[in-house]
Amino acid sequence: MVQERKFLKGPRLRNPADYDFPGLQRALKMEPEEVIQEISESKLLGRGGAGFPTGTKWDMAFKEEGEFKYIICNADEGEPGTFKDRYLLDERTLKVLEGMLIGAYVIDADYGYIYIRGEYFKSIKILQEALEEAREAGILGENILGSDFSFDIKLVRGAGCYVCGDETSLLNSLEGMRGQSRTKPPYPISKGLCGCPTLVNNVESLACVAEILHQGASEFATMGTEDSKGTKLVCLSGDVNYPGVYEVEFGSSTLQEIITDLGGGPRKSHDIKFVIPGGLSTRILTRDKLDYKYSYEGLEEAGSSLGSGGVMVVGSEQDLTAILTRIARFYMDESCGTCFPCREGNQQIYKIISRVGKGKFTVNQLEIIEDLGNAMAEAARCGLGQSAQYPTGTILAEFKEELVEGAVY
Ligand SMILES: Cc1cc2nc3c(=O)[nH]c(=O)nc-3n(C[C@H](O)[C@H](O)[C@H](O)COP(=O)(O)O)c2cc1C
Ligand code: SF4
Repeated sequence: MVQERKFLKGPRLRNPADYDFPGLQRALKMEPEEVIQEISESKLLGRGGAGFPTGTKWDMAFKEEGEFKYIICNADEGEPGTFKDRYLLDERTLKVLEGMLIGAYVIDADYGYIYIRGEYFKSIKILQEALEEAREAGILGENILGSDFSFDIKLVRGAGCYVCGDETSLLNSLEGMRGQSRTKPPYPISKGLCGCPTLVNNVESLACVAEILHQGASEFATMGTEDSKGTKLVCLSGDVNYPGVYEVEFGSSTLQEIITDLGGGPRKSHDIKFVIPGGLSTRILTRDKLDYKYSYEGLEEAGSSLGSGGVMVVGSEQDLTAILTRIARFYMDESCGTCFPCREGNQQIYKIISRVGKGKFTVNQLEIIEDLGNAMAEAARCGLGQSAQYPTGTILAEFKEELVEGAVY
C-alpha cells in the first residue's frame, strides 16, 4: 500500500508572525557557496518540468556578474493536468517565499518577482497578504532578520497564456512585451530580465530548497533513488476516484500503485486506457507500462518522462478522437506564433484531426501528422513546439487499430 511521504506537505503556513523561517535563518549564517554546496549535495532537480539540477543553476547564477540581478519564482502553472504549485502557494505560502529569499541571498539578487497564473485568484490574494505581512515582520525589505541582506518581492499576474510558463516568454511578459519565447542562448542566467542575470525557479523547487536548508541535504538525499532524490508532488486527475495532490517518495511506488492506492483506481470501474504521466506535453503510457517505479529514470525507462508531475488517467470509455481534437486545439491556440514549424505545424495537425471528427484516420493522414510532429520536434524554437507531438503522436501510434481506417498493423 503506497503511503504519502510528507516532506513538502504540512500545516497551513501563511502568516509570517507564526513562522520563524528556519531554512533562511540557517542560510544567512552560511556563506553563499556553502548553501550552493548543500543544494548540490541534495541532488535536487528542478520541478518545473525540465529537471535541471538546481545546485548547478544556482552556482552559475552566483558566478554571473551584473549591475542588477534578479530571482523569479515561476508560478505560471499552465501545463494541463498540473495543480501542485497552487497547493504550495495556498497552503505552504511561506515555504515558497523562504526558498526565494534563500536564492536571493545566495546569488545576491537585487529584486524578486513571483510570476503567477492569472486565474489563480485565491492564491494571488493569499500571496498579496503574505507579502505585506512579511514586510511588516521584517522578512522582506531592509536588513532582513537583522542581517545585512536586503530584498523585496513583487507579485505579477500572467494573462492566461501557456507559453508564458516558458522562462524566456515569462521574461518578455514581465518586461511588458508579448509572451513569445526568446532564442537561447543567451540563457536567462546570464541575460535575463532587462538583460541582467536572472535565476528562474519553479514553486516546488523553491519550497524544496527551504526544506533542504531546514532539514538538511542528507535528510533529503535519504529519500528517493540514486537519480531522483526526495519527494514529488503528484497531481492525479482524470478518470480516478480520488483526484488530488499527493506527495510520494521517488522510487517507493509504481505509477499503477499511485493510481490504485492513492487515487482509488479508475473511476466507474472502467479500465485504464492510458495515462499521461507528466503533464500534457509528455508521451502517453498504456496500461502495460504502468509498473515502472515513479522516478525520473523509471518513467524514462517506461518510454515517457516525469515532466511537471501531472498524472492524467484516461479511462477505457473515453473517445480518442475527441481527446486528440482537444489536445491539437490546445497547442494550436497556445503556440505563440514566433517560429514557423510550431505555428503552421500545430494548425495543420488540428485541421486534419478536427476533419476526421468521429471518423477514422487514413494511413496518409497519420503519416502527415507524424512528419509535422517530427519537424516541430526538430525545428521549433521552444519546448511548446518541440513537445506538442508527444501526446498526439503516441496516442496515434499506440491505438492505430482503433483509429485508422482499414489498419493492418
Ligand atoms: C511551454 C512551456 C511552459 C512551461 N511552463 C512552466 C510553468 O508553468 N512552471 C514552471 O515552473 N516551469 C515551466 N516551464 C519550464 C520553465 O521554462 C523553466 O524551465 C522552469 O521554470 C525552471 O525552474 P526549475 O529549474 O526550478 O524547474 C515551461 C516550459 C515551457 C517550454
Ligand atoms: S515553438 Fe511555438 S511557442 Fe515556442 S517559440 Fe515557436 S511558435 Fe512560439
